[in-house]
Amino acid sequence: MSVRDPNAGHAEPADQGATAAGAGVAHGDAPLAGCAALVTGASSGIGAATALSLARQGAAVAVVARRTGRLEDLAAVIRDGGGSCSVLTADLEDAAQARRTVEEAVACFARLDVLVNNAGYVAMGTIGEGDAAEWERMVDLNFNAVLHLSQAALPHLLRAAANGPRGVADLVNVSSVGGRVVRRNNGVYSATKHAVGALSEALRQEVTGRGIRVGLIEPGMTVTEMATGPGAAAARGVPQDAWLRAEDIARAITFVITQPPHVAVNEIMVRPTAQEH
Ligand SMILES: NC(=O)c1ccc[n+]([C@@H]2O[C@H](COP(=O)([O-])OP(=O)(O)OC[C@H]3O[C@@H](n4cnc5c(N)ncnc54)[C@H](OP(=O)(O)O)[C@@H]3O)[C@@H](O)[C@H]2O)c1
Repeated sequence: MSVRDPNAGHAEPADQGATAAGAGVAHGDAPLAGCAALVTGASSGIGAATALSLARQGAAVAVVARRTGRLEDLAAVIRDGGGSCSVLTADLEDAAQARRTVEEAVACFARLDVLVNNAGYVAMGTIGEGDAAEWERMVDLNFNAVLHLSQAALPHLLRAAANGPRGVADLVNVSSVGGRVVRRNNGVYSATKHAVGALSEALRQEVTGRGIRVGLIEPGMTVTEMATGPGAAAARGVPQDAWLRAEDIARAITFVITQPPHVAVNEIMVRPTAQEH
């Protein structure tokens, strides 16, 4: 099957909903044929592009976010291209909903081979003047949800690694350059992303030898709603037409997931060529 990426062609953020199906791609040879993936934060930006990319590689995808309509549009594009997609609605800041999402995804496809923890939120601000409610939102979504989703997914990923078509399963966490580089005015977001990096490495060590690969993706400035919306970080002197597109990050995530079973790509930072820090 094949689907055209709704973010392709340097679409502006407002155009990032799913729009059209594209030309055909052989399905039988697809690297993720017979696999099921759960992508969080798939109603826009990097998550939507990743779900499309994984579907194009043959995976059945479950997509989750709060905006069901956007997810339904994306699912229609995937299905029009011959793929399988299930829409799940959840507020992942709520731990119970995050855990339930994993079980619902498994119920859809009777397996889970891939989890992409992508949903995230940013609110800029200093520690001194920041809004505590915004801190909690970032901690709950960017870190706590990753923890709950990952723990809930582990038994299913272990089963997929043991019995699945690839002999391996993948858990990919989307962090940020902010997960490596600390800047004033972005401390809490940066702290949540550093925590995701630490969690990813601990989990990697924990599951080594059991067939689960843990990958960490650290995007730089990427044209999405998050990066262009009200809470967005300063562009740091990089003109927006030089930023990454969501599909650039989706390509990196797909690269990690489609490696041969003995190859684990544990960390990738992807910056625009024009971004210094
Ligand atoms: N864009 C950048 O420059 C950049 C740079 C570095 C890292 N990142 C990271 O990339 C990831 C994806 O962000 P993006 O840039 O693609 O931004 P985006 O377009 O704003 O996507 C964020 C996604 O998270 C979902 N989400 C937000 N709150 C949620 C909640 N409470 N429950 C469930 N889903 C929720 C949103 O869906 P709903 O609103 O429908 O729930 C949306 O699908 C994030 O982890 C972000 O930190 C982005």
